Amino acid sequence: MDHWIAPSILSADFSRLGEEIEAVLAAGADVIHFDVMDNHYVPNLTIGPLVLESLRRAGFDCFFDVHLMVKPADRLIGDFLDAGADLISVHPESTEHLHRTLSLIRDGGAQAGLVFNPATPLHALDEAIELIDLALIMSVNPGFGGQAFIESSLGKVAEARRRIDACGRPIRLEIDGGIKVANVAQAAVAGADTFVAGSAIFGSGDYAATIAAMRGELGKASAC
Ligand code: DX5
Ligand code: ZN
Repeated sequence: MDHWIAPSILSADFSRLGEEIEAVLAAGADVIHFDVMDNHYVPNLTIGPLVLESLRRAGFDCFFDVHLMVKPADRLIGDFLDAGADLISVHPESTEHLHRTLSLIRDGGAQAGLVFNPATPLHALDEAIELIDLALIMSVNPGFGGQAFIESSLGKVAEARRRIDACGRPIRLEIDGGIKVANVAQAAVAGADTFVAGSAIFGSGDYAATIAAMRGELGKASAC
């Protein structure tokens, strides 16, 4: 699959959120990663469906990749579907009945993603593989931007890649946490095709230069 770069707006300037999204899209972002935290499943609080709805109302027609870090997840899925999410990802620990949760997302017309924390084994990937459009490997513990990349995540990406290829369905493989220009190629070589980057992009002075540098690294990785 082609490589997607997904800036996480967690590291954007929220006082100018619309301008920030316009800027990363103009700089070459493929999708916008929208981190939703509830101070319960993770120890931080961010944004909800009203923000997505208002971005849609303002005319943003880009692909919104919504990463739910909320428990219970089901209660908010309808709101995010109504708000215009293109893809909604959930953590298996955030719901009692994962099959039902993923079905709610798909039946509502969005793509479904399944997220694995650094210490969460991939078992649910096998059980839910027919129901998902994306698997997301966390390369930090969820909750905050700007954390250090956990190297062992690369092995988990490679294992997820094997399982996805064996199943034959067109499932994207995303990595989230601590992705920078310096390590994005390693993630691609391990098998990821979708790269979330928050602080690396929004913390840089020049979004276009940073995204271009990431694409340059990804191009080199593909050529290997
Ligand atoms: C962490 C979030 C990430 C985060 C990534 O819980 O899911 O999307 O924003 O931020 P960086 O790229 O700064 O690690
Ligand atoms: Zn995320």
